[in-house]
Amino acid sequence: MRTIIEPFRIKSVEPLNFTTSEQRIELLANASFNPFLLRAEDVIIDLLTDSGTSAMSTEQWAGIMRGDESYAGSKSFYNFQSTVQDITGYKNVIPTHQGRAAESIVFAQIGGKGKFVLSNTLFDTTRANIEYAGSEGIDLLCEEGKVPSLVAPFKGNINLEALESTIREKGADNVAMVIITITNNSGGGQPVSMENIRRASEICRNAGVLFFIDACRFAENCWFIRQREPGYEGKAIIDIARELFSYADGCTMSAKKDAFANIGGFVALNDESLTEQFKNMLVVTEGFPTYGGLAGRDLEAIAIGLREVMEEDYLLYRIRSIEYIGEKLDMAGIPYIKPTGGHALYIDAAAFLPHIPAHEFPGLALANALYLEGGVRGVEIGSVMFGKYNDKGEPIPAAMELVRLAIPRRVYTQSHMDYLTEVIIDVFEKRESLRGYKISYEAPLLRHFTARFERL
Ligand code: F0G
Repeated sequence: MRTIIEPFRIKSVEPLNFTTSEQRIELLANASFNPFLLRAEDVIIDLLTDSGTSAMSTEQWAGIMRGDESYAGSKSFYNFQSTVQDITGYKNVIPTHQGRAAESIVFAQIGGKGKFVLSNTLFDTTRANIEYAGSEGIDLLCEEGKVPSLVAPFKGNINLEALESTIREKGADNVAMVIITITNNSGGGQPVSMENIRRASEICRNAGVLFFIDACRFAENCWFIRQREPGYEGKAIIDIARELFSYADGCTMSAKKDAFANIGGFVALNDESLTEQFKNMLVVTEGFPTYGGLAGRDLEAIAIGLREVMEEDYLLYRIRSIEYIGEKLDMAGIPYIKPTGGHALYIDAAAFLPHIPAHEFPGLALANALYLEGGVRGVEIGSVMFGKYNDKGEPIPAAMELVRLAIPRRVYTQSHMDYLTEVIIDVFEKRESLRGYKISYEAPLLRHFTARFERL
């Protein structure tokens, strides 16, 4: 088979700023050993996130110029609304400035003390919004999803037996919502099958529980369904998406992922009374319902991006480029979550650095080593992000210690990916010399963004 090439050519370029390893030692120390606190210009290959970091297309930039900035009833809103309606089938579309603003509006209305929100795995901002509203979030990931080295097609699935028994145990009235994250970001960018969504939907409908999709990476998930699930081979991505959304009551979305936008999000749903509640909240926190915290030009870019993201040439290249990194790491025996996911590769830092215990943050140690070695910025998804303390103040580790290398959409080329794998392999060769970290400052919520560390 011939090389799968980037399905675009480059019209405008952004120079990379090269640093030396001596400079990076100082830069990382100045950032208190937290890659979030580095300046982006001091990073060579920035894989911190695939969120808001996409390269927009010529059509999207043209759409930016066409954006209608009218306060109410802008043309760009109606374009955005009809695109979301066409893909999801939901009648009501509420724009927000990003995904977590959509979550905040939803969970402030339906959450509250004594309520539970069940999921395959809640993303950290989703969990934070649920907890901020006084509810409790519960992750019910399928068993395969918990074994990093296991190859299975749909490791993002929710555990259906656990879903049924948890609804029974907590009482359906106390379950504010079931929300399935596609793809499952915190669990390795792994997809959820159509069958799993359909059966979760049946369980929710029988129990009278609201069922939503966290749709940030819906197109990538639909691509995996097409590739891996019997009955979907050769189907158009939009048809797979429409079927998927039809099983749920609504969705929240960060348009910073599978809409190629640098900002934006939305809630979409059918229920009129919930829509009214969400819109009432929207005008207080975001803006008028036809712009909701966005400029008209952003709405236009999102509408165009939502269609482009479903193009098959794009998805083929997108998923292949992450698989490509995985193949190179396999050759070097480097442990990562298998199979490679939709938007990122997740190195298994616990297996990479078995001599660093969870409370000394092996994921952070690896993320920092990648920066020092080659100016690559990834993100720890482990005990820094998800670790907690018990009543005695002792650390409770996260389920997995990962470093996520999230690949921005349409931004880096194959030679950037080759450079990346060379850096990872060089760090792997000196892994025994790496040491852990301890926290010197942490915020009460979402501590990973601002925490400061000291080397051990
Ligand atoms: N849900 C999922 C599954 C996400 O991955 C994110 C963001 C959000 C919700 C929130 O959206 O950032 O627009 O407010 N994930 C980014 C990431 C931050 O790096 O994975 P947002």
